[in-house]
Amino acid sequence: MEIIIKVNAEAAGLLAAGLIAEKIRTNPKTVLGLATGGTPLPVYEELVRLYRQENLDFSSVTTFNLDEYVGLGGEDANSYCRFMWENLFNHINIAPERVHIPNGLAEDMEAHCLEYEDRIQQAGGIDLQLLGIGANGHIGFNEPNSSFASRTRVVNLAPETVKANRRFFPAEEDVPRRAVTMGIGTILESRSCLLLAAGENKAEALAAALEAPVSSSVPASALQSHPRTTVICDRAAAAKLRNRLKNESA
Ligand code: PGA
Repeated sequence: MEIIIKVNAEAAGLLAAGLIAEKIRTNPKTVLGLATGGTPLPVYEELVRLYRQENLDFSSVTTFNLDEYVGLGGEDANSYCRFMWENLFNHINIAPERVHIPNGLAEDMEAHCLEYEDRIQQAGGIDLQLLGIGANGHIGFNEPNSSFASRTRVVNLAPETVKANRRFFPAEEDVPRRAVTMGIGTILESRSCLLLAAGENKAEALAAALEAPVSSSVPASALQSHPRTTVICDRAAAAKLRNRLKNESA
């Protein structure tokens, strides 16, 4: 596992976007796994810039998002579908039919989850999965004690996740309590993973994920067993890593 520490969240995002762009330039048919939340925003901003100013071509790229709230439709202002279109897809030349985001309103959620997994397989698997980390160590919406073999499914959100996401909703009672998420098993099948972490509120989770024994109580620690994971974080998120000085770069 390679751990790269950048001076701040923007620098971390720029580097992550650069790695994604390199992947797409090497293989225009790259299958990307994408994440939502505050952390990937600088990544998407830079990918849009690379599209506009440096001819980065998304026309053959396929994407699969990690998760969506159950009960929110794609048009809902707080849905992850809307987030992705507003922050990335509307601004690049991606083919809409190659964009995949779990449907929070699927009537038969079990069938929908199976189909989502099938689609990933049909696309040839995910080449590069972008991930954030929750302050409780979650990846996607795989909350603490999720099975490392878990697949795409409906989960209950941990109380701390509901609190953390409260900032996007008018009131705490408006935050959905359930979500549909790729499983940890699904994520581990990606050919490479790129975990991005920024801010001091992630420091403890990141240290537990990277430097403590692998445990389902810290879902991101599953990445320790993944053969091709890169972690990019800012100094604040790296504050509790004991080996950080070895890896620091501007
Ligand atoms: P954040 O969320 O980027 O908004 O901090 C990350 C996550 O919970 O996975």
